[in-house]
Amino acid sequence: MATTLITGGTVVSSTGRARADVLIDGETIAAVLEPGSVLLGTELTSAVDTVIDATGKYVIPGGIDAHTHMQMPFGGTEASDTFETGTRAAAWGGTTTIVDFAIQSYGEKVQDGLAAWHEKAAGNCAIDYGFHQIIGDVNEESLRAMDGLLDEGVSSFKLFMAYPGVFLSNDGQILQAMQKSAATGLMTMMHAENGSAIDVFAQQLVKDGYTEPYYHGVSRPWQMEEEATHRAIMLANLTGAPLYVVHVSAKQAVGQIATARDNGQNVYGETCPQYLYLSLEDNLGAEGFEGAKWVCSTPLRSKHEHHQDQLWQALRTNDIQMVSTDHCPFCMKGQKELGVGNFTKIPNGIGSVEHRMDLLYQGVVNGHISLERWVEITSTTPARMFGMYGKKGVIQPGADADILVYDPNGHTSIGYEKTHHMNLDYSAYEGYEIDGHVDTVLSRGKVVVDDNQYLGAKGDGRFIKRGLSQYLI
Ligand code: URP
Ligand code: ZN
Ligand code: ZN
Ligand code: ZN
Repeated sequence: MATTLITGGTVVSSTGRARADVLIDGETIAAVLEPGSVLLGTELTSAVDTVIDATGKYVIPGGIDAHTHMQMPFGGTEASDTFETGTRAAAWGGTTTIVDFAIQSYGEKVQDGLAAWHEKAAGNCAIDYGFHQIIGDVNEESLRAMDGLLDEGVSSFKLFMAYPGVFLSNDGQILQAMQKSAATGLMTMMHAENGSAIDVFAQQLVKDGYTEPYYHGVSRPWQMEEEATHRAIMLANLTGAPLYVVHVSAKQAVGQIATARDNGQNVYGETCPQYLYLSLEDNLGAEGFEGAKWVCSTPLRSKHEHHQDQLWQALRTNDIQMVSTDHCPFCMKGQKELGVGNFTKIPNGIGSVEHRMDLLYQGVVNGHISLERWVEITSTTPARMFGMYGKKGVIQPGADADILVYDPNGHTSIGYEKTHHMNLDYSAYEGYEIDGHVDTVLSRGKVVVDDNQYLGAKGDGRFIKRGLSQYLI
């Protein structure tokens, strides 16, 4: 088995930082050592096949993006990144694990949906991957099938309070699925927006001639998110289900989650880079049809309401626990274009799986979060939240050697013509400058990115059978 030594760097974990060397044996971290303890030129070092010099750099557990949608059929088209292109782009950005969403559509069996996602991903991924299960049709059969999910390594499922006629579950269905969640320990993930009210609003706007991308945001105001978040929390309270609210964008929804947590309830929240950096006015409201690039749900919020400040604060106070991308890319050409003249026809989603580690590191530079918190919200907590901790999310003996060597003195210019490996014909973060750089990325001991070169291969990534959440109180 090949051995690798990462030497000279500062190993950063969720709880601290220290100068240390990391010895890797094959796919696994063998030891975290005093700096220089494997001295170059000694017998020990001659047994090391590869030495990576991390002097002046941070050595952190590889990123875990727990919310992606590779090649997801949605809005009459399909997300433009395949498991191959999307996981490669993730690796470029220092992410070494994704958790994608297998879909049970209306009228379909859960097992068939899960099998279909295995087929899409198997043999195609550059990095390790797991699945959450979308339950798009809560019925007797799907409720029974949920009993078997944990054995399949799927320890979480997502329900939707939005998208009537597509994925929406009514309150009775949500209650039943949450009872199952409480009984099995599976984490309930919730898209919390009042979809029925939103759809009426959206149709009224279009009818009145308000058809531009900006009105996507207008049609889904924060009240729709706060109300649904509250409802989900109350149903979880009633049933005892652990609840994880996905893509939180409104400060009022954060408030609901914080209150539930203060009451001792197992409620968690995720936000995404787009809600920390982008806004209704500057992005959705861009000239002409440009705003379509940023149509996603929950929508970008008004900069005048200070949601971004509140989200950064919630990341500091642990009212929001982690950041995923909700990577769901659609090209402008042929995909977003479907909604020219009618914003309701624009496929929902933003692609950013490549940029999460950089964008959140910029949060460290800008003083929003600490270096340790950066590691926690991008890797350690996702691993704990979704039952992978120990193997993933930590640099310690026995863990998978998923490691990011990050250079705080490097620089990254994000842009379609610059750093862009996603299968997407624009960058949602065009022109963003990052005061740091993804230097070297190891996936289970194999160097997949080094010095702006891609060295990985399709099929390197394996399916991760996840256990129950290790985060619950
Ligand atoms: O706009 C989004 N978020 N698209 C992906 C589907 C979802 O709701 O997560
Ligand atoms: Zn969603
Ligand atoms: Zn999503
Ligand atoms: Zn800079």
